[in-house]
Amino acid sequence: MAATDDQTDDTREASFGGGEPVLETQRLTRRFGELVAVDDLDIEVGQGEFRSIIGPNGAGKTTLFNLISGALLPSEGSVIFEGEDVSKLRPHERVHRGIGRSFQITNVFGGLSVRENVRLAAQAVLQGRSPVENVFRHKDSFDDLNGRADDVLSRIGLAERGHEQASTLAYGDRRRLEIGLVLATDPQLVMLDEPTAGMSAEETRATMELIGEVLGDRTVLLIEHDIELVMNASDRITVLNRGEELATGPPEAVAENEQVQQAYLGGGVL
Ligand SMILES: Nc1ncnc2c1ncn2[C@@H]1O[C@H](COP(=O)(O)OP(=O)(O)O)[C@@H](O)[C@H]1O
Ligand SMILES: [Mg+2]
Repeated sequence: MAATDDQTDDTREASFGGGEPVLETQRLTRRFGELVAVDDLDIEVGQGEFRSIIGPNGAGKTTLFNLISGALLPSEGSVIFEGEDVSKLRPHERVHRGIGRSFQITNVFGGLSVRENVRLAAQAVLQGRSPVENVFRHKDSFDDLNGRADDVLSRIGLAERGHEQASTLAYGDRRRLEIGLVLATDPQLVMLDEPTAGMSAEETRATMELIGEVLGDRTVLLIEHDIELVMNASDRITVLNRGEELATGPPEAVAENEQVQQAYLGGGVL
């Protein structure tokens, strides 16, 4: 598709369709015994795209994230990130490349302060550097870490809470902290697995706003069951069903897709 000088919102989708994708899966497959949780999946995600992954329970969404983050290895196929095959890299090496995965609440150290949690997340990435890089960075790394932690805290709206013990945060603030922990690793790609699960309508709205605000310049992969949220936030949506890609496209196209409607209509989701 030809690029034009003045790309408007109408051509954003076209621009994601062209150029090098930041993330690509090629024939990606993961089996658990007889079950094929992710089945021969080819997806491409463009730089800066906000892509949502939807599908019924058990569709393979979380497994897909685990394959991208390296928590699971594929049975077949590969994960390409920024043009390189990362399929065999360990999770921390992928974090280092810029693949950020949302930390679950269980990864937040309740006994530590909010700020210390953010610092630790940032430090994990610095320590993942090669020794030579670390030597060169040593002098300014502490300032780096503190600066980055403070920057993240203010971006997630927890600047005033930095000194509080993480375990004392209200649920919604803990989920904010989780987003902050991903951000602290300065990822190019951010994966969020149902970040609004268990939230009230008001907390959900605030969290989606926060995600748009602080991750607007990143590539985002979002698993979310609230279709209305997904429709509003996404550049494109991928629908999974039994591990297979049912459809990918901009929200309106996916909503009109007949196969998607058939898969969902029973539940009255769309
Ligand atoms: N570690 C595992 N061992 C065995 N089966 C698994 C494992 N993880 C996921 N599954 C199965 O794979 C399928 C997809 O799961 P999952 O990726 O969690 O789906 P989703 O996130 O879309 O709800 C489900 O049938 C689930 O039971
Ligand atoms: Mg899941």
